[in-house]
Amino acid sequence: MALYSAAAAVLAGLERGEGGLKSLVYNSGFPHVRQLYALVSETLRYASVLEKLLDGAALLQAEKKLAPQLAKVLVYDLLFGQGLKCGGRWKALARRHRARLEAELARMKVRHKVSRNEDLLAPEKAVNTAGEWARAGWAPCAGSSGGLCLTCPAPAASQVPRYVRVNTLKTCVDDVIDFFKRQGYAYLGKAASVEELKTLSGKEFLLDLHLPELLVFPSQTDLHDNLLYTSGHIILQDKASCLPAFLLGAVAGSHVIDACAAPGNKTSHLAAILKNKGQIFAFDVDPKRIATMNTLLTRAGVTGCQLAQQDFLTVDPRDPKYSSVTHILLDPSCSGSGMVTRGPGEEAPLSAERLQALAGFQRRVLNHALRFPALQRLVYSTCSLHQEENEHVVQAVLQEWGSAFRLVTAFPSWPCRGLAAFSGAESCLRASPAETLTHGFFVAVLERCKEGAAAPSSLPAAAKENPQPGEGTEPGATPKKRKKKKQKMK
Ligand SMILES: C[S@@+](CC[C@H](N)C(=O)[O-])C[C@H]1O[C@@H](n2cnc3c(N)ncnc32)[C@H](O)[C@@H]1O
Repeated sequence: MALYSAAAAVLAGLERGEGGLKSLVYNSGFPHVRQLYALVSETLRYASVLEKLLDGAALLQAEKKLAPQLAKVLVYDLLFGQGLKCGGRWKALARRHRARLEAELARMKVRHKVSRNEDLLAPEKAVNTAGEWARAGWAPCAGSSGGLCLTCPAPAASQVPRYVRVNTLKTCVDDVIDFFKRQGYAYLGKAASVEELKTLSGKEFLLDLHLPELLVFPSQTDLHDNLLYTSGHIILQDKASCLPAFLLGAVAGSHVIDACAAPGNKTSHLAAILKNKGQIFAFDVDPKRIATMNTLLTRAGVTGCQLAQQDFLTVDPRDPKYSSVTHILLDPSCSGSGMVTRGPGEEAPLSAERLQALAGFQRRVLNHALRFPALQRLVYSTCSLHQEENEHVVQAVLQEWGSAFRLVTAFPSWPCRGLAAFSGAESCLRASPAETLTHGFFVAVLERCKEGAAAPSSLPAAAKENPQPGEGTEPGATPKKRKKKKQKMK
């Protein structure tokens, strides 16, 4: 499109010192000078952010023939402007790189703890000292002029320690500590700060400061062949992934649903918290993951868990079987953008459509979970960095349910909070390699406000179109009947 070429030419002219912005725009020969002026000024306003996005997404390396000025203009319009208003090669280029650019932008916002694009420009949010950069998880970059680069993440995987959850169904923390000591490990006591976890080396280990049954080893520690692991006495589980069961607050004897459960680390944690007393209903759609889960739960000594290969959206909240379910753990499929074990090159491509589809599923499944009549408390979690899968999902669903459910502050002393996407989002928590030495993670804790408050403030279209007998005030359409297989854990 001529507008983009003209804007790129003006930017190039500015860089070569051929004139000021106004004169270059007026002398460009482009007929719509206002439009051109606006696009160039906005691109310049976002210049430093755009440079970092281009670097992070390696756009210029991938598109060798694309001039940097044109790349900036296109990426500006794609991410911050009106969206690309052109077809042909620019549209194809945008399609190829959009997901990567959006992921880079999402990461940048997480690092800066901002929710709006404009906040990346605010001077008070500018992260420009070495200390702040390091704290935010971004590493010095030899290639950037200032020696530091927003788009180069620190080697996150090697920052994250090896976390070991003691399986209290089979053993206790003291016995596991003694076992490791006998194996030549040095126990340093309970950590006083997250910083202390970074200092671990060799065969040292600590008790975690936040979670009582979590031991922390240096990141290179491999315990997959360790007898405690192979016998199910310990579970190798990232600290962030231990938060949902811990924060759910179910007690022994509770009836709990784990809605998207496989491969079952959180289910086995739930079972340990329940001391195998009560009932866990676990669902997953994936037969292979269910098979793995069966092995894992058996090895962990989990009993009292009904594991079903079933789409959770088809589970009927009115089934008397679930009438005592007071707690639900909802850890649905997500983009996985917070998983640090994937290097930048290995990241699965995430298109805008896929992100939207995931967010749509997450909203549906959260809405569905809130329909269980005895539900008191629910934990929603993802290992995604995207606000679309996190704060936005929680906000949208809470809005639908009006005053029936509220967010409670999850782990008040946890240092990293939800992004300010809506008032109260700081009640949610986030986790990241840089700030909490964990995978990137999101948790929201929802509680029912008062007994019997089951009516959402506004009904989604599907519910309005298909009111259900006796359920007219609830969101969601009638679950479709699908084939299900059930397995009882012994
Ligand atoms: C993030 S993983 C869950 C991890 C699990 N909570 C754990 O800690 O081991 C999401 C799971 O949701 C399952 N899933 C996706 N759609 C589902 C649905 N409609 N009903 C039930 N499970 C679903 C996927 O098969 C996947 O195993």
